[in-house]
Amino acid sequence: MNEAERPTVLEVQDLVVRYGQQTAVDGLSFSISRGEIFGLLGPNGAGKTTTLSVIEGLRKPDSGRVVIDGVETLHAPLAVKAKLGVQLQASSFQSELTIEQIARLYAGLYGLSLPQRQIRERLADVGLQQEITKPFKKLSGGQQQRFSLMVATIHNPSILLLDEPTAGLDPQSRRQLWDRIEGSRKRGGSILLTTHSMEEAQAVCDSVAIIDHGRLQAFGAPKDLVAMHRDDPRVQAVAHGDVTLEDVFIGLTGSAIRD
Ligand SMILES: Nc1ncnc2c1ncn2[C@@H]1O[C@H](COP(=O)(O)OP(=O)(O)OP(=O)(O)O)[C@@H](O)[C@H]1O
Ligand SMILES: [Mg+2]
Repeated sequence: MNEAERPTVLEVQDLVVRYGQQTAVDGLSFSISRGEIFGLLGPNGAGKTTTLSVIEGLRKPDSGRVVIDGVETLHAPLAVKAKLGVQLQASSFQSELTIEQIARLYAGLYGLSLPQRQIRERLADVGLQQEITKPFKKLSGGQQQRFSLMVATIHNPSILLLDEPTAGLDPQSRRQLWDRIEGSRKRGGSILLTTHSMEEAQAVCDSVAIIDHGRLQAFGAPKDLVAMHRDDPRVQAVAHGDVTLEDVFIGLTGSAIRD
């Protein structure tokens, strides 16, 4: 299937989110196609996590809408949840249960009744066969990450949302995570992720949106963005040699540190 024929999985349209006086997301629009790895990039405080929380249905936007597989999230929140895979944070897992019990519990929440054998196979797939009787908090950081990604995809979601999935991972775990994300894409899944590593975004994302102050600054395939902004004086001013996605990012969003 060529890119133009790929169905749209997620559409964010004119999203506005305010926290009191502050506008965190300010008229943001972008869309993601089936089988695409999409990077939402932006400096600290740009509005990435806020955007994800609206897509996840955790926060109501002040205006604008989110459409997943043709369904507007506000109209059918439960139907939409079944299409989403969200990587949960450590604190969301029940601390007294073993990871095998947690996996079974989450499969059940998505309406799947997986037999014990299949649950164990999935745990073995992510290298946790020795760990099945441990509670989540006794796993190492990398093991926790693999487990939460496995649980997030247990129901084969249309789109997987990952907020800074590689933060704090060692190079081995990071490489393994990318292999898993690629695997999920090969099975037709789409992924929306955030990262502060422009190198990573350039290497793995099919397309990226660079946002700042809740507004879209640039959108497209990393190599197209580099080609498009290569001669921008703001980008030239920060580039050393060949222009990279990071140069484009800093050129468009400025060098000042954010809170
Ligand atoms: N619950 C909240 N209440 C008030 N303000 C908030 C809240 N959450 C985020 N903000 C503010 O909204 C803006 C966007 O924050 P958000 O967490 O979406 O940014 P981000 O792009 O995810 O940043 P980071 O890269 O640091 O994770 C920031 O200015 C932040 O201080
Ligand atoms: Mg964030």
